[in-house]
Amino acid sequence: MAADKPAPRITPFHFNRQKQQRGRIAMVTAYDAPSGVLAEAAGVDGILVGDSAAMVVLGHDSTVQITVDEMVVLTRAVSRSVHRPLVVADMPFGSFQVSDEEAVRHAVRLIKEGGAGAVKLEGAGPTLTRVAAIVGVGIPVMGHVGLTPQSAVSLGGYRVQGRRVRDAMRLADEARALQGAGCFAVVLEAMPAVVAEYITDALDIPTIGIGAGAECDGQILVWHDLLGLTLSHVPQFVKRYAELGTAARAALASYVDDVRNRRFPAAEHTYPMADGEQELFEREVSAHHGASRPSDR
Ligand code: KIV
Repeated sequence: MAADKPAPRITPFHFNRQKQQRGRIAMVTAYDAPSGVLAEAAGVDGILVGDSAAMVVLGHDSTVQITVDEMVVLTRAVSRSVHRPLVVADMPFGSFQVSDEEAVRHAVRLIKEGGAGAVKLEGAGPTLTRVAAIVGVGIPVMGHVGLTPQSAVSLGGYRVQGRRVRDAMRLADEARALQGAGCFAVVLEAMPAVVAEYITDALDIPTIGIGAGAECDGQILVWHDLLGLTLSHVPQFVKRYAELGTAARAALASYVDDVRNRRFPAAEHTYPMADGEQELFEREVSAHHGASRPSDR
């Protein structure tokens, strides 16, 4: 009997087909092998190894500190553990700002060393030539407009974008320009739902929303936010599907209590010696050390 063929890898083409068929694309961020495995088992279409790792994994206070080397390590951990979802690697701040050539070089590292199937870049403007250059060497690119955390300082903080008509139209122009530059999809972050809907209708490529309402072609959430692992403030748009942080804290506190009160490890967590060897061992120990055997403490 022929073995079951593994499901084929999801590609940007699949994202596009989802849009044409008015399906919904489910994405989540992940940053290591266990989270990649769980995301795949849950049936996600795509995993973003986001530069949000700087904050939720590496303990920085913004996303700009993470390096290409760090992104390569995290991306490789995810891509080597998943088979079907499209793995998208975020290009960190500084990796695409200097020139088209540097942007291509860093994108190539994320694909070749990190094993990603695509990269994501924030912003429009100068980003447009970078997108075209990266797409030009055959690497699929996801765009990102609206609240772009790498530029949070110049945007006046982590604020909703496009609340005024002029800003909304600028976001739409940026998304169109990213499509024109060759992006296969674009993330719309933190903008009014009507603006995201307008952009989604205006584009041929799929939009992936985060804080951008229900009419985007897909959705993405940050792993730690979705699972309740973020112990600090989370944005209004986050839906917490579990409270794993609270559960983990309670479990760890029980462990500490068990250790302090000698309830852990119990007999079932302990290795016995081979049959008949313990008695011989104890005799041997007492012959060598008399009363100072460990079991006498
Ligand atoms: O880095 C990230 O996690 C992101 C998502 C919020 C889209 O860019």
